[in-house]
Amino acid sequence: MYRPAGGKSRSDRGLTGQPSAAFVEARYFPRMRCLVTTAPSGSFEEARELAERFGLEAQSRADRVIPELVEAAAGAPILILSKARADLVHRGRAFRASVGMGFLRLVRARQGETDPLVRAAELREDDEVLDATLGLAGDALVAAHATQARVIGLEASPVLAAFVTAGLRRLLVPGRVAAGRIEIRCADHRAALREMPDRSVDVVLFDPMFRSAAESGALFDLVRTLAEHAPLAPETLREARRVARRGVLVKDAPPGHELARLGLVPLPSRRSPRIVFGWAGAQ
Ligand SMILES: C[S@@+](CC[C@H](N)C(=O)[O-])C[C@H]1O[C@@H](n2cnc3c(N)ncnc32)[C@H](O)[C@@H]1O
Repeated sequence: MYRPAGGKSRSDRGLTGQPSAAFVEARYFPRMRCLVTTAPSGSFEEARELAERFGLEAQSRADRVIPELVEAAAGAPILILSKARADLVHRGRAFRASVGMGFLRLVRARQGETDPLVRAAELREDDEVLDATLGLAGDALVAAHATQARVIGLEASPVLAAFVTAGLRRLLVPGRVAAGRIEIRCADHRAALREMPDRSVDVVLFDPMFRSAAESGALFDLVRTLAEHAPLAPETLREARRVARRGVLVKDAPPGHELARLGLVPLPSRRSPRIVFGWAGAQ
């Protein structure tokens, strides 16, 4: 469970000088970000590992049914791990962890098709890729397959990072090797990029939330609810160009208003009418 920031102020105390009940509830026991637990086939070790890694709260299932877990989570999402699947229960809906369209893209790539992202970034074997907006990890999966190398995936939302980590571990065989190359870190890319040395990866990918407004589907509803929505700032793009050896690929929705705001020109493309890419060379 994450800890409250800051200390106590006098106004937090009741007449007795003791913290008031409201303060105790709101500040000493802040809401959990996500409850991580198991189905009967799941491993509590994994629940604990994900909770520790992403700052969430692991609780043993203790025979509780979903409504009891919902009550215990007090509005926070609940990640339920079973052997073969992972589900996130949030606001009355259950979302099964998956890489969305990423799996179909991977299957097509295995059949010899070149994915539009791979073509736009000119990804090749052994390239090291930093996916700075991991989301459901569809792009990261396709990149890991194309490069046969490690992909670092940064995700600002701890809940999404845990959900996607659990999902990638359970991916069906055709995707499992590529999924194993993705290293997920829960971090804000604005801070993470500032700390990275010059020219430390080949390509940086950005797919910020401005594009996702056009996406539909249950999993994208979930991403929209949990994601970081801040637009990509020009200074972050500059940092990424410093960190990249070859360049930075930015995704946008047509006609590319966000690319224009960042001073990028959409790359010509014959496919993907729902996506435009912009490329910024390394600095
Ligand atoms: C549109 S989704 C990315 C989808 C992804 N390309 C895929 O294939 O599944 C954008 C993701 O980037 C994350 N994000 C946005 N700003 C971020 C930041 N500053 N640092 C890290 N992650 C960020 C959001 O939380 C969200 O999950």
